[in-house]
Amino acid sequence: MCGIVGYAGSRQAAPVLLDGLEKLEYRGYDSAGVCVHNENGLEPVKAKGRLSVLRDRLEGGSALPGSVGIGHTRWATHGAPSDRNSHPHMSWTGKIAVVHNGIIENEARLREKMLRKGATFSSETDTEVVANLIGYYYEKYGDFVLAVREAVVRLEGSFALGILCKDVPGKIVAVKKDSPLIFGFGEGENFIASDVPAILKYTQTVAYLEDGDMAVFDGDSVEFFDSTGEPTEKKREKITWEMSAAERGGYDHFMMKEIYEQPKALRDTISPRLRNGQVTLEGIDLSAEYLKGLRKIYLVACGSAYYVSVLAKYIIEKTCRIACEAMMASEFRYCDPVVGKDNLVIFVSQSGETADTLAALREAKARGAQTLAIVNVVGSAIAKAADQVIYTWAGPEIAVATTKAFTTQLSVVYLLAMQMAKTLGTMSVGEYNALISGLESLPYDVERVLSQRHLERCQYLASRYHAHHDAFYIGRNVDSGICMEGSLKLKEIAYLHSEAYPAGELKHGPISLIEDGTLVVALATIEPLFDKTMANIKEVKARGADVLCVTLEGYEEQAEKIADSIIAVPKVHPLLQPSLSIIPLQLFSYYVALYRGCDVDKPRNLAKSVTVE
Ligand code: M6R
Repeated sequence: MCGIVGYAGSRQAAPVLLDGLEKLEYRGYDSAGVCVHNENGLEPVKAKGRLSVLRDRLEGGSALPGSVGIGHTRWATHGAPSDRNSHPHMSWTGKIAVVHNGIIENEARLREKMLRKGATFSSETDTEVVANLIGYYYEKYGDFVLAVREAVVRLEGSFALGILCKDVPGKIVAVKKDSPLIFGFGEGENFIASDVPAILKYTQTVAYLEDGDMAVFDGDSVEFFDSTGEPTEKKREKITWEMSAAERGGYDHFMMKEIYEQPKALRDTISPRLRNGQVTLEGIDLSAEYLKGLRKIYLVACGSAYYVSVLAKYIIEKTCRIACEAMMASEFRYCDPVVGKDNLVIFVSQSGETADTLAALREAKARGAQTLAIVNVVGSAIAKAADQVIYTWAGPEIAVATTKAFTTQLSVVYLLAMQMAKTLGTMSVGEYNALISGLESLPYDVERVLSQRHLERCQYLASRYHAHHDAFYIGRNVDSGICMEGSLKLKEIAYLHSEAYPAGELKHGPISLIEDGTLVVALATIEPLFDKTMANIKEVKARGADVLCVTLEGYEEQAEKIADSIIAVPKVHPLLQPSLSIIPLQLFSYYVALYRGCDVDKPRNLAKSVTVE
């Protein structure tokens, strides 16, 4: 969703802002803009479309003088994408410029109020209401910081704001609630941004702003205030990853780079947690007494993280014998869930800022449940709000379609399930040791699936199937969870209509959609269920389906007799098998998207971090 960036220092601001916005492109956007404070006062320049349109308009930034400014990439919520609705927005007085990430829920009431005070509006956005509100209080009190404070206490909803005032050259005020905002400390220059990559080129020292925090800064200094308006200190944190982690590094797309980063991401996530043949999740406190008293574990998330939760249900129930339920975060709050003290609620999120997941977490806490988050972004809202957190060490994930975050989330599920099973005594020593050695070799097994041979096979299969209009993914047990993820990958980046069903469910309705040439992707990687899935493949073959089957090495011959094409993955411990089965589906979707001429890293209508409900 929207990205914001702000710069104060001695460089020309516009190129720095454009640079930062480019690094936030992954969040998803449909227009962009900057506003710089210079000798003409506040000078906003905005453009609908890709950042390149704005870049051209600004001649790479050189056409806009001034060394203090704010920038924005917009993902439309209030009003269609247009130059007019793009940020920054100015107050009707012309003295205040605002960039905003989030949603102002009481926008309609505030708009009415401001109209009565004589304000005028030139866009349909909620952000212009914020600019006018600050503008109004600035006229009233003549004090920039006070005006922001007065306005912000009247806002309901979520916001990260970067604000300039025409009368206060050199200064930026930034404030946040429920939308991410970081502060970057430079030498004679300071920054704000929605995410680290936007400023990493200039500084590795950052502070994560908390809800209610305000930063008032210029190039030389910064003052932080907490939600009560009291001065406060912010902890300076060092970003340990390099800029190269957020660059394509020779790959055509971030998605392919991130697919290939999976062995490393898995190693970084798993290895530090395996010590002397034991799983050790530092800081995670789940005693036997507590676990034995649990009525149910809920797993709550959105999109691919929800599919990890679906898989987690199988894995935790199998290993710990505790009932689990996977729920979509967007539904959790609205179904009056039976959640309380005797429930552990696990939240899964790459970004740690997904609005629905965060809201569900607050709901679970309010109902007295213990909460645990599996998160990739350190210091994110979900990581901070949960009682306990386990990080995936996937590094920055830039492509909208998740790959390495998915597989590392799954690896944390294995670790957590094993730690809980050990505590509960629900797993035999032999089984525990088998899983430990399976986890140790998992990164190498993933490397094997990423071999040139597999890559070429997936490319070939994509060339064969990319022109289909519909696809059905079927599988049983954990394969059905992988089908959901594989199907989502195909939809989101290749725009190919696709659905996923547990294989046994197809004949209860969806099979009526199978006709001559319909693509069915069947997963058959669970040995005891292999024959059952083959029977389901025969059913769709009998109705004309063109079947691509993902199975285990050693089963090719049997599968080939029934399916039209095969891809085989190495056989590993059955609980770990999903980590390998998903890889060919990621590669298949990637190549189908390329054959269909899609923008793999920036699929239409999608945002990397979904910060609105
Ligand atoms: O950042 P999160 O993991 O909370 O995001 C959840 C979903 O929005 C995300 O997994 C989405 O479905 C991806 N685009 C899938 O590739």
